[in-house]
Amino acid sequence: MKFDRKDILGIKDLSVDEINVILETAESFLEISTREIKKVPTLRGKTIINLFFEASTRTRTSFEIAGKRLSADTINISASTSSVVKGETLIDTARNLEAMNPDVIVIRHSAAGAPHLLATLVKQAIINAGDGAHEHPTQALLDMMTIKEKKGKLAGLKVAIVGDIAHSRVARSNIYGLAKMGAEVVLAGPATMLPRDIEQMGVKSYTKLEDAICDADVVMMLRIQLERQKQNIFPSLREYSQHYCLNTRNIKLARPDAIVMHPGPINRGVEISPDIADDPAYSVILDQVNKGVAVRMALLYLLTGGNE
Ligand code: CP
Repeated sequence: MKFDRKDILGIKDLSVDEINVILETAESFLEISTREIKKVPTLRGKTIINLFFEASTRTRTSFEIAGKRLSADTINISASTSSVVKGETLIDTARNLEAMNPDVIVIRHSAAGAPHLLATLVKQAIINAGDGAHEHPTQALLDMMTIKEKKGKLAGLKVAIVGDIAHSRVARSNIYGLAKMGAEVVLAGPATMLPRDIEQMGVKSYTKLEDAICDADVVMMLRIQLERQKQNIFPSLREYSQHYCLNTRNIKLARPDAIVMHPGPINRGVEISPDIADDPAYSVILDQVNKGVAVRMALLYLLTGGNE
């Protein structure tokens, strides 16, 4: 299948065939990161700009590594060291970057829809690296790739996503993606962290963690997005962890071969106990990070005309 999208803005827009092409391409790139010389000339002469208006460890680093492993020139710009601090707008920033003729602009922004705005303004490919509480498509793709590797499939699996669903772009992108790929998605979190219309997305939601993770094949834990909450929506971290921390006791409700995921950064002892986060029998958290490089290599390759 020819992949002819200009941008990757969200999982909601992608077809099952497009998701499969991205995952298959990422699988073919995995091996490059295990070589002694981790570099191929595929994107030589291409320029990737990583434009990050919010903090990031995994996404920004893995986009940079992905570009470098494909021999592209990668440039990182963070808002705090750019002319944004002098008052330049997002639109002017984008138009100035466009004038330098990069091939791909990867953007993370606190405003939902910022990547979509850029995609209409500039001719370059835009990749959404997380926009507010809206979508984080590359995270969902690496999550699906990890589940597929560990479980051999996506269709028919029960995936429980637990935590601050309302403010989580990771949850939203995974709900769209996993449902498209035939998985059953169930959610759990305090009522104040579950969007009111969430069941319209075709998922069940619970306020008890135990109800959601019962017989789950995959348990995905999320951190509380304090930076997106306008007011305190839970009494204290201590009380939250008493009800919503995944630990060695409640994980036994999931299937015996369940895997535990977390997009990071993790808050140990709040949403996940260190015993579970570090237990190789359950935790695939660092496998997710590993797959992130391959998924981002695949997207840079496909958006620059790789499979034409
Ligand atoms: N999962 C994720 O987006 O992590 P970063 O915020 O570190 O990029």
